[in-house]
Amino acid sequence: MNILIVATEVSPFAKTGGLADVVSSLSIEWKKKGHRPVIIMPKHRRIDIQKYNFHPTFLTLLVPMGYWTEYATIWRGKLPNSEVEVYLVENNSYFDRPGIYGDTSEYMDNDRRFIFLSRAAFEAAKALNFKPDILHAHDYHSAYTMPFLKTHYKNDPFFARTAGVFTIHNLAYQGRFDPQATMEYSSFGMKSFYPGSWFEYYGSTNFMKTGIKFADKVTTVSPTYANEIRTEYFGEGLHNVLNSRASDLIGILNGVNYDEWNPETDKFLPMNYSVNSLEKKKDIKYKFLRDNNINDDLDIPLVGMVTRLTEQKGIDLIINKLEDFLWHCKIRFAVVGSGEPRYENYFNYIKSKYPFSSIVYIGYNEKIARQVYAASDMFLVPSRFEPCGLTQMYAMKYGTLPIVRATGGLIDTVQEVIPSQKTGTGFVFWNYNAEDFAYALLRSLEVYSNSELLNKARKNAMGMDFSSAKSAEKYIEVFKWALEKI
Ligand code: ADP
Ligand code: GLC
Repeated sequence: MNILIVATEVSPFAKTGGLADVVSSLSIEWKKKGHRPVIIMPKHRRIDIQKYNFHPTFLTLLVPMGYWTEYATIWRGKLPNSEVEVYLVENNSYFDRPGIYGDTSEYMDNDRRFIFLSRAAFEAAKALNFKPDILHAHDYHSAYTMPFLKTHYKNDPFFARTAGVFTIHNLAYQGRFDPQATMEYSSFGMKSFYPGSWFEYYGSTNFMKTGIKFADKVTTVSPTYANEIRTEYFGEGLHNVLNSRASDLIGILNGVNYDEWNPETDKFLPMNYSVNSLEKKKDIKYKFLRDNNINDDLDIPLVGMVTRLTEQKGIDLIINKLEDFLWHCKIRFAVVGSGEPRYENYFNYIKSKYPFSSIVYIGYNEKIARQVYAASDMFLVPSRFEPCGLTQMYAMKYGTLPIVRATGGLIDTVQEVIPSQKTGTGFVFWNYNAEDFAYALLRSLEVYSNSELLNKARKNAMGMDFSSAKSAEKYIEVFKWALEKI
């Protein structure tokens, strides 16, 4: 199958969260299975062209925008250690910027930037003579590829046999914009914008809604989230829209590329370990603590976290309880994260108040993140909602027991440790409240104090298989299903 993937972030070139990992791991699996995935993404300033060996193609794209034409050039490269083709859409006025979506705040012209990317994807496919069976869009940024496929390119023989599949990674980011601008840039015109139209949402445009409405099939990143978002509580105002597509909506659990995420081979770690050499995990922990000037009582449990610092991630629960645990020296805490200033400030405060009990890195850092996965004993993901979540799956592979709230992909991947049966891979709490969270953390400390049980739980966690090969296969089934409609 020829699969044209349009996304704003792709690992390792440019990443802010799980979307980037999922786009690249799926593509690698599809390629292994004999399909031809082609990724289109913006040429962001942060992409290291030399390191990743990108070259200009000297193809110039004419990109229709509104009633005028704009231009893009494209660069060719490959996902590292694979034959997956990646094309970067270069337009410096849109993408030569420090951020992917914004820097201090979202870029004001994100509607225009992402409409441009979406339209350029079609022109790139034609210029490359790549006829897709499937056009696969991810989140609101590339959602407008869905209406483009069904309108502007509907009668283009090049896309006559192309089905559109739209994947929701996070319903909280919908892309709501001023209709005058969106409808003009996308060349639909205000005639297509009226109450109840597929472009309209309470007087604004809403890229997410439009993508959901026009796609042949809609997927999201875990089975539980697929059910949750059809309710008012999780639907972020789009539950009715999602229910209108219920028969075409399917949850496919994200997978992990274990070639990239494996403690036996991870090159960011000071030493590698496996399920049969867990004593090295302890050595990594000791080294990590000492490297951060913590030299005493190294066996206190280390609780880690790697995350965007947003409300979604349940930081409020941590704020409520963390100091109780730190003050009584029940745990040490390590976090790598960036995001909302109020949360960054909080963790900086923790660092200054508990310098020998906390390790705080504010910012994005792959190496330190990997060390936290490996060095920690427990790993926190107390999210308010979580479409899938990759960090708990990475933690498990590194033998680090996740403490998660029972929502979205978290409940699809983590099972409570039951001491009497020696089963389970982590700790799960159900209600979004600080007491339930603290109780889950206490349960994890109980398990930690029983080394035999701890090792068994670690082995259970490391033995879980969330490989992206499985999810890639499920996407292919959905793609076939989408093509039946064409
Ligand atoms: P989300 O996509 O909502 O942020 P996921 O759990 O799906 O959540 O994916 C998060 C990804 O981003 C993981 O690969 C995680 O390791 C990575 N990550 C998040 N914050 C940081 C950070 N500050 N430094 C390094 N990696 C990070
Ligand atoms: C989103 C979600 C996260 C998911 C990721 C990849 O950013 O917040 O739960 O794992 O996308 O699908």
